[in-house]
Amino acid sequence: MNAATKKENAEHYASIHIQRDVMCADCHTDVHTHRYWKKDKRVVVAKCIQCHDQETIYSRSIHGAAVAAGNQDSAACNDCHNLHDIKALGERISHENRVFHTQVCLKCHSNEAMMKRNKVFNVAAETYMESYHGKNYRLVIRKR
Ligand code: HEC
Ligand code: HEC
Ligand code: HEC
Ligand code: HEC
Repeated sequence: MNAATKKENAEHYASIHIQRDVMCADCHTDVHTHRYWKKDKRVVVAKCIQCHDQETIYSRSIHGAAVAAGNQDSAACNDCHNLHDIKALGERISHENRVFHTQVCLKCHSNEAMMKRNKVFNVAAETYMESYHGKNYRLVIRKR
């Protein structure tokens, strides 16, 4: 087993998926033909929505539309939930959940260079995120 696989193993065994008996092979049906992933976010989305009914909501979101169009800066499932180290979300209104919500957004929305090249004008990331505080990410539906 190589180093990379060890990492995925450790992460998977700390995830909500292992607790619910979702195994490597449930997602990696192609273990023998598995090619280098190349980090294409569309591949991840296609996999996750096989079990999670997120397709309608996510694909109508600004993030989903951008990823589908090939924008690799935009947020896919793994950017917000991780790829293997996926945690249960817990109580929707808990403190933990709010922290999770804000932190995942700021990973990108406090990155000025990334925001600039995507024409998202967030002068102050903190202020920008404040306006989304407590709001559901699903409300970020595409208007263009
Ligand atoms: C819930 C679904 C899911 C489970 C369970 C899962 N994986 Fe993955 N894994 C993915 C997706 C999606 C990718 C990215 C696309 C691809 O490579 O198919 C990926 C990528 C990988 C990669 C390549 C990482 C990279 O950076 O190129 C390895 C190695 C891997 N998984 C190993 C494992 C191992 C080992 C297990 C079990 C211990 C496991 N995975 C369980 C969904 C899963
Ligand atoms: C921009 C960040 C973001 C992206 C992208 C994202 N999620 Fe989420 N997801 C969240 C947050 C935050 C929650 C917590 C509840 C909420 O606010 O709706 C959540 C909740 C969930 C839940 C909990 C059950 C539910 O329906 O409420 C699942 C399952 C889930 N997401 C899977 C996915 C999958 C699969 C994708 C990709 C198709 C995805 N998410 C894309 C941030 C994201
Ligand atoms: C083989 C089916 C399967 C695939 C593929 C899969 N999941 Fe899951 N996932 C589950 C099951 C089963 C649960 C536990 C029951 C539940 O909460 O829906 C779960 C739980 C979750 C949760 C916790 C939901 C909560 O309410 O706490 C998140 C987040 C999540 N998955 C994200 C993902 C992401 C991101 C991907 C793609 C990398 C993915 N899942 C791929 C079956 C799957
Ligand atoms: C992986 C990086 C990444 C993450 C994580 C992320 N975003 Fe984004 N977000 C982007 C990019 C890139 C765009 C621009 C997409 C486009 O329109 O082409 C964007 C667009 C947006 C927009 C539309 C802005 C506008 O002015 O058009 C909103 C609102 C938004 N994100 C909110 C959020 C929230 C809330 C979260 C956390 C739940 C989040 N984002 C997480 C990268 C990210």
